Amino acid sequence: MSSKHFFSDAFSLVIEALRALTITNPSLAFDEENKIIFRRPETYNKSNVAVISGGGSGHEPAFAGYVGKGFLTAAVAGTIFASPSAEQISRCTIERLETEKGVLIIPMNYTGDVLHFGMAAEKTKAAGRPAEFYAIGDDVGVGRARGGKVGRRGLAGGILVMKIASALAETGASLEDVYRIAQLSAENTVTLGSSLEHVHVPGREVNNEFVPNGEVEVGMGIHNEPGSHRMKSATLPTLIKTMLLQLLDHNDPDRAWMTRQAGDKFVLLINNLGGVSTLELSGITAEVTKQLATEYDIKPVRTLQGTYLTSLNGLGFSVSLLKLVDTGLGAGKSLLELLDAPTEAVGWAAPIQPSTWEKHSADASVEFKKVDLVQDQPSNLKVNPATLKKALTSGLNRMIVAEPEVTRYDTIIGDGDCGTGLKRGAESILKVLQGELSDDIVVTVNKFVNAVEATMDGTSGAIYAIFLNSLVQGLRAQDSGSATQVDAKIWGQALKSAVTALSKYTPAQVGDRTLVDALVPFCDTLVSTEDIKAAAKAAAEGTEATKHLKASLGRSVYVGSEEEWLGKVPDPGAYGLSEFLTGVADGL
Ligand SMILES: *[C@@H]1O[C@H](CO)[C@@H](O)[C@H](O)[C@H]1NC(C)=O
Ligand SMILES: *[C@@H]1O[C@H](CO)[C@@H](O)[C@H](O)[C@H]1NC(C)=O
Repeated sequence: MSSKHFFSDAFSLVIEALRALTITNPSLAFDEENKIIFRRPETYNKSNVAVISGGGSGHEPAFAGYVGKGFLTAAVAGTIFASPSAEQISRCTIERLETEKGVLIIPMNYTGDVLHFGMAAEKTKAAGRPAEFYAIGDDVGVGRARGGKVGRRGLAGGILVMKIASALAETGASLEDVYRIAQLSAENTVTLGSSLEHVHVPGREVNNEFVPNGEVEVGMGIHNEPGSHRMKSATLPTLIKTMLLQLLDHNDPDRAWMTRQAGDKFVLLINNLGGVSTLELSGITAEVTKQLATEYDIKPVRTLQGTYLTSLNGLGFSVSLLKLVDTGLGAGKSLLELLDAPTEAVGWAAPIQPSTWEKHSADASVEFKKVDLVQDQPSNLKVNPATLKKALTSGLNRMIVAEPEVTRYDTIIGDGDCGTGLKRGAESILKVLQGELSDDIVVTVNKFVNAVEATMDGTSGAIYAIFLNSLVQGLRAQDSGSATQVDAKIWGQALKSAVTALSKYTPAQVGDRTLVDALVPFCDTLVSTEDIKAAAKAAAEGTEATKHLKASLGRSVYVGSEEEWLGKVPDPGAYGLSEFLTGVADGL
């Protein structure tokens, strides 16, 4: 038995999973002995046709997940992959539901289901209650010739059929009409599945039948039944191309289950067999949609994607197409309207309102607007470009010269990339300084932001980028509206507000052995003394102090023996920043 399941007793698992439906939908009731989920009697109109389905478990949310307002009246479950008995089913149709117009019994077209649900249909009629039986077969996986007596099986497209028939029953339609529409919609539905692997039933021996790595079985059923063929090393586009041909090629006499004319409208259903990630399923939806448009000129009026009919955690998906033919029932009762009708069944996922589909289906793609960001707008804060250039160039060069030392420190207590990251950032700002420099400090710092964001990565890149972005805001906040020369006071306030902003995104504080140990003393001293040389000195002292700190955050937390570096090696990030600040002060 595989250990990769949370449950080892499949029998009690099925019971508990059914019970869960009464928890997630309080309008449902559970007959545990007969594994029947049914709508509470007071919640529906007893005059209407009752629609029931069911089958083996392991296909969740089918079938009990489709019981609820607007959908099935009841569902009967078997054990995993085994039909419920005729006894269970007739308990359901005769005793667990109330109906004046009769019961439509629509299981999927599998031998066991057909026999048991069929027998129950006869028992129901014998008990004096009108009943009709129809076994849904939407699979095109196995052609007529090979399928022989097995016929078409029921797959995810069958859920659309159940939805439509149930919604019609809810309108008060006759049993005859509900039966006819179930048949009509099934005959206009085609489904094809593909799987990368057989599934394993919890609690059972692992079988040794596997789909080899790199192969995909086209047309595999929901109980590991073989499909039409296996494809080796097929790309997804090739697989989808093959599948769509099998679904839609009506020149193929073996599988022309559904004819198609220009202008026909379709609903597309992309179903997860249980084990495909939503990420991959979405990629599949995109590919199917693209090929339907380019190869078949089909743009579905509705596209549903999700987990509708599974094979346990099957590593596969199915594609269904429902052709929207005329029901002849008039307003409000087209296949599409019935499909769109609201329901509370928890298994049904169709969040988009019909009006939203109608309103936007022919929309052109959205044009991206160019927004004039405040960020790019000039300010009244002026600097002397030559002075700024000289000071920053001095600081940046000093930082670049310090790179080998920063790298050495970071190799001892970090992953060794701090120095090169700082150097890359410094070089990118030097490049900005070599170009034409505005005397508007906000415009200029913004250019630094872009340069740093484009060249520095990792944690320190993000910290510098956040800091500089906040610095822009901090500067702008001090724009009085009339031209002002930026002095140490304005710098101090702007830097201080950037430090505050930064603290929202990193827990690092002074004493945590990070670049904050240089940055904060610099800003605090600049605010209190308005003297940049004193501030740079404070940064250097803060850096020196990191030598004696144990790490609690950032890179140094993870690294080896303390004796090696404690008391000797400063935090490399603080050291690099402090060298820069010292260089700036020297360059003024
Ligand atoms: C269901 O399967 C039977 C054979 O088992 C086949 O004769 C019949 O055509 C199938 N029904 C549908 C709707 O395909
Ligand atoms: C139940 O359905 C019948 C027939 O469709 C209808 O006449 C009746 O008004 C409905 N009752 C309720 C309570 O909706």
